[in-house]
Amino acid sequence: MIEFRNFSLTYPTGSRPALREIDLVVPRGQICAVVGAEGAGKTTLAGVISGVVPHMTGGDPTGSARVGGRLLAKTQPSELVGEVGLVMQNPFNQLSGARFSLREELAFGLENLGVNRAEMIRRVEAVMADLGLTALASLSPYEISGGQQQLLAIGSALVMRPAVMVLDEPTSQLDAVGAGLVFDTLETLRARGVTVVLFEHRLERPARYADRVLVLGEGRIVADGPPTDVLTDPRLAEWGVAPLRYTTAARRAAERGLWEADRPLPVTLEAAADGFAAALKSARTAGGL
Ligand SMILES: Nc1ncnc2c1ncn2[C@@H]1O[C@H](COP(=O)(O)OP(=O)(O)O)[C@@H](O)[C@H]1O
Ligand SMILES: [Mg+2]
Repeated sequence: MIEFRNFSLTYPTGSRPALREIDLVVPRGQICAVVGAEGAGKTTLAGVISGVVPHMTGGDPTGSARVGGRLLAKTQPSELVGEVGLVMQNPFNQLSGARFSLREELAFGLENLGVNRAEMIRRVEAVMADLGLTALASLSPYEISGGQQQLLAIGSALVMRPAVMVLDEPTSQLDAVGAGLVFDTLETLRARGVTVVLFEHRLERPARYADRVLVLGEGRIVADGPPTDVLTDPRLAEWGVAPLRYTTAARRAAERGLWEADRPLPVTLEAAADGFAAALKSARTAGGL
C-alpha cells in the first residue's frame, strides 16, 4: 500500500514546490493512473514512490510518504529494490551499462538479489516471451531501438516481481503493438495483486486500464476518482490535460440534444459508438431522421 499524508516537496533549485499537500492512499492491487500536463509533477511523484526523490535528486520534503509501511524519508532506494519497480520515462537512463545482452541485462537485478539460477532463467525467459523480446535476447541493450529499450526497462522491473510497479510514461517510445504488449502485462500484474501507479500525459490508456485516475495540476491532486468521472470532467482543459476525442464528440452531440440525457459521456471508442448508435436509433424512432 502507498500512503502519502500532506506531502510536499521542493527541489533545491526550485522556486516553488514540485508537489504540494499530497494526500493519497493506493490500496494493494489497484491500478491507479496519474495524468497531468508537462511539469505537473508526475515524474517527481513517480520518483518519490520509488525512493529516487529526494535521495538521489535532493529536495526538501514535508509531511510523510510510505510504501508498504516504510517511511520513504528513512529508506534508501536500494532497500526498495524488489519492493518497488520503477520504469523511467527515458529507458536509456535505466540501462545498467554493465551487461552486454538483453538476456544478461534482464538477469542483472536478480543476480544482485541472489536469486538462484534456475529461477532466474525461468523469470527472464517468461518476461522476454511476454514482451516479445525473445528474438533479441543476444543483442546489446545499446543496439536496439528506443521502443525496444523501453520494453527492456519494463522487463527489468517485471522480473523482480515487485509489490508495487511505477510506470512513468512507459509507452512514450512505443508503437501500438509495443504499447499493447505493455498494457497486456498490466492485466497480468492486476491478476497477481501488484499495485500499479501509471503516469501518463495522454488519456487513452488510463481510460481503458485504470481502476482510478488522479489529475495532477501544478503539483497538487486536483481530481481523483473513477476514470469515467475524472476523464469526462469539464475542467480537464483548465488543468492542462486534453480531453479524449470520444468525450469531446459526445459532449458536442449532447449540447445539440443528440446524446441520451441519462447516458454518461464516453471515455472509450466502444462507449462512444454505443452512445451514438443509441442516439441515432432514438432519432429514427422519433421520425427525426
Ligand atoms: N531534478 C529536478 N531539479 C529541479 N527541478 C525539477 C527537477 N525535476 C523536475 N523539476 C521541476 O519540478 C516540476 C515538476 O516536474 P516533473 O515532475 O518532471 O513533471 P512532469 O513529469 O509532470 O512533466 C517542474 O517545474 C520541473 O521543472
Ligand atoms: Mg515526466
